[in-house]
Amino acid sequence: MTLRVVCVLSVFALSSAERLIGSAFKLPVSEVTNHENSNVAFMEPKPPAVLKVRLHESTVLVCQAASQNGPAPLITWLKNGKPMQRKNNNERVGEPTQAEVVVVASTTRSTLHLDCLTMAEATSNYTCLADNTVTRVQTVTQLVLLPGTEGWRHDLARSGCPFVRNRRERKQILAVVVRHPRIVMWSPSSLQLQGQAARLLCRTTGSPPPKVTWQLHYGELNKTGQIALITDDARHTISRNGDLVMRDLDFYEDMGVYVCTAENAFGIAHAEAFLYPLEPTSS
Ligand SMILES: *[C@@H]1O[C@H](CO)[C@@H](O)[C@H](O)[C@H]1NC(C)=O
Ligand SMILES: *[C@@H]1O[C@H](CO)[C@@H](O)[C@H](O)[C@H]1NC(C)=O
Repeated sequence: MTLRVVCVLSVFALSSAERLIGSAFKLPVSEVTNHENSNVAFMEPKPPAVLKVRLHESTVLVCQAASQNGPAPLITWLKNGKPMQRKNNNERVGEPTQAEVVVVASTTRSTLHLDCLTMAEATSNYTCLADNTVTRVQTVTQLVLLPGTEGWRHDLARSGCPFVRNRRERKQILAVVVRHPRIVMWSPSSLQLQGQAARLLCRTTGSPPPKVTWQLHYGELNKTGQIALITDDARHTISRNGDLVMRDLDFYEDMGVYVCTAENAFGIAHAEAFLYPLEPTSS
């Protein structure tokens, strides 16, 4: 019974793995062999080149990059060419692991939440920069105001952002708007060789900083019949920034969908990460 579930899952997994790699690089898995071929490419969803927005509304840019045969890409956002202040979200932290050296293939997705746009923000350019330390790619989104929406008081009711008179008031209101947890960078899929390490990202924002926990779908149940939380042990480490680092990957133990949960007093957010440990000799 369990074996059958694993087989069905693994057929599904392998075909998604091929789709994942195929769509980004047009290369079969077997050609993934050495670091020199390491590459990064954008995949859908990719942010648009131009995005029309209304003053005071909130919008989200979503950017996804795939890395082949290299570290998982990290995504950084720039505003008008300058890095945006996003504490802890785009650093490589903790001991370097094999995962920082070579992963067969992985995707990283990041969201940039632009809340209650000011005139300056609503006419800025935002760059998604994806970097796996070997190569980097970038894509720019130009925000432009929808014609006829320049008026300061226009459409406030619809925007969900209250009218603000000055910077101080805006800062106070934004503090409330953004206090709930958001997962702003995670790893939708990773293919890594059995026996090697992998890092699944889960970078969050929120105030107070959300507590991050990890579970494996269909994983072990605890005494109360719920899926047990993953805890630090010989093969698992949950980094302070929320990432789950796994070592010595085993197909039967580790293949599956991982769920990262970020929670604080104001809410909860989830992201899913699919991990597939490949046979080292698969060709
Ligand atoms: C954004 O990019 C466009 C197109 O490259 C450019 O014309 C415009 O001046 C840029 N805006 C800012 C604020 O840098
Ligand atoms: C079982 O796991 C859930 C989370 O999945 C946790 O909230 C609960 O406290 C756990 N119960 C025990 C007895 O460990």
